[in-house]
Amino acid sequence: MWFRKWKEKRRARKAGREAINMNETSRDIQSPPETRYTEDYKEYIDNQYGGTPADNSIPLREMPSGEETKNEVRMDNNINVAALKNLLERRSIRKYDTERQVPKELLDTVLLAGQYAPTAMGKQSPKIVVVQNKEVRDCISEMNDEVWGRGIDPFYGAPTIIVVFADSNIPTYVQDGSLVLGNMMNAAHAVGLGSCWINRAKEVFLTEKGKELMAKWGLGENYIGVGNLALGFAVGDYPKPAPRKEDYIVFDE
Ligand SMILES: Cc1cc2nc3c(=O)[nH]c(=O)nc-3n(C[C@H](O)[C@H](O)[C@H](O)COP(=O)(O)O)c2cc1C
Repeated sequence: MWFRKWKEKRRARKAGREAINMNETSRDIQSPPETRYTEDYKEYIDNQYGGTPADNSIPLREMPSGEETKNEVRMDNNINVAALKNLLERRSIRKYDTERQVPKELLDTVLLAGQYAPTAMGKQSPKIVVVQNKEVRDCISEMNDEVWGRGIDPFYGAPTIIVVFADSNIPTYVQDGSLVLGNMMNAAHAVGLGSCWINRAKEVFLTEKGKELMAKWGLGENYIGVGNLALGFAVGDYPKPAPRKEDYIVFDE
């Protein structure tokens, strides 16, 4: 079976692989991970909403219910600052602690957020596959690199890979799957994990090997890979965001 052959090939290539320095393609991340928030963001949020989550005097908005949700929620200056900061401060992590697996409680929280992403007409077209088995993880890493062709681990050492598929019979499957990935990336940041969307899920799972894995996971060929999520504990400094382009927003006033 291809999996056994792949394992043999992998053993043979191990020496060579050890010589590969994964960090070469990672960002230059050296200072301690406590530097989570850039001053720019802090200033922006402070100006907009007058505080940071570390400031206990800022009341966090309670979940609204019933009539209240219609129009009063945003009117009382009671903004969920922590949620906004989380959205602004999530970054793609490209260096992980390879030895530290994601604990179940944190993984479950990330997966819960994924399952609560909006989907067109509420059809829940995506499927989420969690890979923590090292052999399978390394296998899909190699398959991904076969498409990518860079000779490195495209998952940057992350010990957990989440593959999001979606049912291509549903016209909005790419959008649905993308929102699942987005929710999970933001949830990962909220619980202190690093994550990065890794491309090429579509190509990898259209290969024969990919189809075999999908069959093992109980997924029919109507499912298409939308994206992979590398998940784990970040190592090193927190990446800074690129400046936003000036003409990002167009107002028609
Ligand atoms: C559809 C999509 C595909 C991506 N594919 C990769 C990838 O294959 N490898 C990678 O290192 N980052 C990948 N990324 C991460 C982006 O490079 C990253 O989001 C972007 O540089 C902005 O950085 P930020 O996430 O820190 O804000 C991908 C992101 C998206 C949305």
